[in-house]
Amino acid sequence: MSPKDQTTGRPGQRGPRHVAIIMDGNGRWAQARGRPRLFGHHAGAKRVREIVEACPDLGVEYLTIFAFSTENWKRTQVEVAGLMSLFRRYITKEARALREEGVRVRFIGDRVRLDDKLIRLMDELEEMTAANTRVHLTIALNYGGRDEVARATKRLAEDVAAGRLDPASVDEETLPKYLDTYVLPDPDLVIRTSGEARISNFLLWQSAYAEYEFIDTLWPDFSSEIFAGLVRDYGARDRRFGGVRA
Ligand code: IPE
Ligand code: IPE
Ligand code: MG
Repeated sequence: MSPKDQTTGRPGQRGPRHVAIIMDGNGRWAQARGRPRLFGHHAGAKRVREIVEACPDLGVEYLTIFAFSTENWKRTQVEVAGLMSLFRRYITKEARALREEGVRVRFIGDRVRLDDKLIRLMDELEEMTAANTRVHLTIALNYGGRDEVARATKRLAEDVAAGRLDPASVDEETLPKYLDTYVLPDPDLVIRTSGEARISNFLLWQSAYAEYEFIDTLWPDFSSEIFAGLVRDYGARDRRFGGVRA
């Protein structure tokens, strides 16, 4: 087994086990067509299924997608309401296909600011796909990395205050247990579309050693071919995790 194989955590496998995507560029895609931003969000949502379905053949077990950030509330009321309505419609429309395709869906992010109907749909989708194992799809909705760490720290502090956790035992294995992603492996590859080279508060803790791909394609133009190319390129990367090549 080569050192690179070891770093993926899967002997003999060079591909990324967990890919996370910052789906950016919907607004610019719509603008280029003289259409409202929401038109771009609808086009973007339509791209998700093809990417999820491409995962098993590419050896990707976990796919995490950034749908709405804790900062996206700053947008106009029309856009925010349109996005929330799109999420409700998306879940309602895609639930059956996701279940039948063997996709296990999870949501990460803070639910408190989401409306009750959306929360109910999210809960239902998580429940109805809970036995699936073919692909683990995680949707980050009202997600912010700093917010997640702050919420995790609050719960950790509560456990200390209640005597359930010894402060002397806290190390870098402790905090991840309190993060929304506690059941997920860390992402191996983070892709951002639309030409922006920033992470915009996505998976801050978890991506400490992720590989990054920033590509110019706008999210509604993203395809399984582009995805496959990025997954292939990942295989040529030399992940050292601070060490040196043997
Ligand atoms: C990403 O596309 C989707 C969300 C943030 C909800 P944008 O809406 O950010 O599109 P651009 O970046 O303005 O083109
Ligand atoms: C990041 O995109 C959030 C999502 C893709 C959901 P943004 O468009 O919100 O990020 P910034 O504002 O360009 O940093
Ligand atoms: Mg954007």
